[in-house]
Amino acid sequence: MYIEKVKGAMKLPESVRIFDTTLRDGEQTPGVALTVDEKIRIAKRLDNLGVDTMEVGFPASSEGEKKAAKEILKLDLDSQICGLARTLKNDIEAAVDCDVDYIHTFIGTSPLHREYKLKMSKEDILNLAVEAVDHIKDHGIIAEFSAEDATRTEFEFLKEIYQAVESAKVDYINVPDTVGVMIPNSMRYLISELKKHLKVPLSVHCHDDFGLAVANSLSAVEAGAEQVHATINGLGERAGNASLEEVVMALIIDYGLDMNIKTPLLVDSSELVSRITGVKMPPNKAIVGENAFAHEAGIHVHGVLEKAETYEPITPEMVGHTRKIVLGKHTGANAIRSKLDEYGIDVTDDQFNQIFSQVKKLGDKGKCVTDADLKAMAETALGRVEYEIVKLEGFSVMTGDNVMPTATVKLRIDDTVRTTAQTGVGPVDAAINAIQSSMSETADMELLEYNIEAITGGPDALAEVFVIMEDKSGNKATGRSAAEDVVLASVEAVLYAINKILLDR
Ligand code: KIV
Ligand code: ZN
Repeated sequence: MYIEKVKGAMKLPESVRIFDTTLRDGEQTPGVALTVDEKIRIAKRLDNLGVDTMEVGFPASSEGEKKAAKEILKLDLDSQICGLARTLKNDIEAAVDCDVDYIHTFIGTSPLHREYKLKMSKEDILNLAVEAVDHIKDHGIIAEFSAEDATRTEFEFLKEIYQAVESAKVDYINVPDTVGVMIPNSMRYLISELKKHLKVPLSVHCHDDFGLAVANSLSAVEAGAEQVHATINGLGERAGNASLEEVVMALIIDYGLDMNIKTPLLVDSSELVSRITGVKMPPNKAIVGENAFAHEAGIHVHGVLEKAETYEPITPEMVGHTRKIVLGKHTGANAIRSKLDEYGIDVTDDQFNQIFSQVKKLGDKGKCVTDADLKAMAETALGRVEYEIVKLEGFSVMTGDNVMPTATVKLRIDDTVRTTAQTGVGPVDAAINAIQSSMSETADMELLEYNIEAITGGPDALAEVFVIMEDKSGNKATGRSAAEDVVLASVEAVLYAINKILLDR
């Protein structure tokens, strides 16, 4: 809406190319090293995704890198396949050897790089850059030139070296924000200034040291940059590079640009890269994070269920995600009703109120209620008898090492309250024995079957207990309950079954 107010002042290009560097800069993520096979699997996915160019590695750096590039080239993918090379003949030859379509050559240009890393003069650096581009073009290969640390390089020198490579017929000029020091305004300024002196398409390569890689990439596009370097999940050296999924969706949705990326494959691609690299995404990661389309708060869930756009800027399907309604502390009745409807579970108002208060209780304890938890709660509510002849008034258990587990159960049977203590092999057994003993005058009940299941993992998982009870006359009934406390779940399940038998009589 407001973008229309400012779009007129932008120099948006007709289209923006995605230069994916997941397999090169992304692989430089500390702790990540990919095998040839892993690179191939990711390359195939990037190709399906529709990246215009993929940088598959730095062939001169190792035999493995060379092999990966060669194998990927054999796949004859639609994306252009690029190899990285310093402005050195050997590096370029290593990439040429792999039969790449595209070579990205770079050399440091900032005073820090000139003085401390390269120990070279501006003139020598410029000459090496031009020779490298000449060399690549002699092979008839697409050439991209990067002035490493461009954003800390004096503008005059930057302009000079870029103009020199443009004269050498470079195809793309890349502006790396190598240590992520730009802010959106300064990036817009730099690209606009460079555009005044260059005709070759401009590209940006932003690092995320200050969390601004995506914003800076978008600013570069606003100033006319035609290509963005990005990585799946924002992987890359140190804090990473601009995240491909975020850049792409912002360019399509916010700026209204057409791109070659098949956005419904974004989540799948992110998951594949995360599995292979072992770098997990935080749940709140934009676009692809587990929570990107998850709603918990009652007001939000209500809005989303009425009209998804109220709390979602794009549909989850657009990026291959799914909407998730999470039940917890902030859940409203609407969310629970919609989940129960989804599972075809029909409950009365009383049963619903029981489920609702159980969800809130768990939420208040900081627990997230999973779908399996909800189903178990619903089963418990559905299995509960309307009128209880035997009602639990309270219970306690004592257990430990070298003590006999003992349970005390306080039951209201009709109008009489009875408190009975019993021992057992464990606290559950003791509690069930206490119930049976307390009931012996009213009805002798036997436990025929007992099953317990932890629904979700963790020590505070909801336990679901299922029992079958039988009286002396052979009347049987099932009982079921779910609670965090296994003894409580067991006691409730037994009492539900007993009440069913008594009511049936
Ligand atoms: O960040 C950087 O400067 C790079 C170069 C190789 C372009 O990755
Ligand atoms: Zn980089």
